Amino acid sequence: MKKLEVIGAKKLKGTINISGSKNSSLPILAATLLSNKKIEIQNLPTVKDIETMILLLSSMGSKINLSKKKKSVNIHNFKKIKTYASYNLVKTMRAGILVLGPLLARFKKAKVSLPGGCAIGARPVDIHLKALSKLGVKYKIADGYIHATAPKGLIGNKIKFSKISVGATENLVIAASFAKGKTILKNCAIEPEVSDLVNFLRKMGCNIKWTGRRTITIFGVKKLKEVKYNIMFDRIEAGTYMIAAALTGGDLKIVNVKPKIIKTEIDILKKIGADIRTKKNKIRIIGKNKIKNLKIFTSPYPGFSTDLQAQLMVLLCKASGKSQITEKIFENRFMHASELNRMGAKIKIFGNKAIIEGNVIFKPAELMATDLRASVSLILAALTAKGKSIINRIYHLDRGYENIERKLRNVGAKIRRISQK
Ligand code: EPZ
Repeated sequence: MKKLEVIGAKKLKGTINISGSKNSSLPILAATLLSNKKIEIQNLPTVKDIETMILLLSSMGSKINLSKKKKSVNIHNFKKIKTYASYNLVKTMRAGILVLGPLLARFKKAKVSLPGGCAIGARPVDIHLKALSKLGVKYKIADGYIHATAPKGLIGNKIKFSKISVGATENLVIAASFAKGKTILKNCAIEPEVSDLVNFLRKMGCNIKWTGRRTITIFGVKKLKEVKYNIMFDRIEAGTYMIAAALTGGDLKIVNVKPKIIKTEIDILKKIGADIRTKKNKIRIIGKNKIKNLKIFTSPYPGFSTDLQAQLMVLLCKASGKSQITEKIFENRFMHASELNRMGAKIKIFGNKAIIEGNVIFKPAELMATDLRASVSLILAALTAKGKSIINRIYHLDRGYENIERKLRNVGAKIRRISQK
């Protein structure tokens, strides 16, 4: 089992290139199942979840050529596609549920494993299924799989999501692109990754428009075009490194980003006391010694992202007073708090609220990663702790951060991957 060894304390200085977005790549790769034309997708991040999604598509018969060097993939789904997504692939990458919409739209049937829960929550898919039923899908749950059919094909309809869900919005946008007639989706997630998916589908020839702040109107089409598409930057990776600069009192240039897309996080870090200057596709962030405490909650975009909650918690441990974070998206996303407390943090959890004492000096320790964003928060804390920390179970990290050791080493961190003795 691989571990990470981090020797702190280090100020980070230099430039970090941001990779393509994992959470944009996954729905776009799933959406390629709609088309029998050639598709090229560029700027894919080389992370485990993308490899798993590509494995899943290949297992269904998708013809895929991945060029790791060029970070691009050529996909051609012209052959007979197996409308089956197995448990062994979906269980490790929950976004596998996103093949449900395109399979039903194009092939009118699908057998897709229920993704199951993960460390941060139960992760149900009831909103996906209820909305798909409104397009004429019949389904039953048996032996851990969703057995779904749309005998007459999908029929457009008016749908209002009972709760804002990124995945459900993405599944339905893809499915409705081939439904007969008009579909109106209300109470949609408006994360930038949803917009990236809509842009990709429109480029393929789908008829999709934003007709309200959280409303998308889709007219079903039958024919699609060949397409070449460039994935947007990973705003969570960018936010993670911005927090790292603020935390270590460093000076980082974060490049290949669109600052306006992460305005909320930039404003939060400015409020905490970081010096941030933005240009067209770069952000310079200089950490200050004084970090102000904060009371904040996570919420759907454009609110503060739940995927940056663990990272911000580390920063607030260094603030000059008590802070509070309320996690309003997932029911169990504070697993990192107990590991941070083992490094000297003083974090108390009351339901979905974390009370964070400030002025903490992190001590090095042997640590356990529990989920993707928790694992990166342990690295951040270890960067500020004088001495050697070891982080176990870093397979969580490899799901969503491309070359994190190399990117951090290039800006002064002492971090390396070691094998289990
Ligand atoms: C996406 O997950 C992201 N994953 C998550 O990022 C992100 O945290 C989340 O959106 C929220 O922004 C990808 O895009 C691959 P949701 P998703 O459906 O689509 C509940 C990361 O670290 N819900 O918006 O699964 C759900 O339990 C990952 O990169 C239902 O109840 O999130 C949660 O409490 C973690 N029923 C809330 O809604 C449903 O049918 C939001 O979930 C679907 C969701």
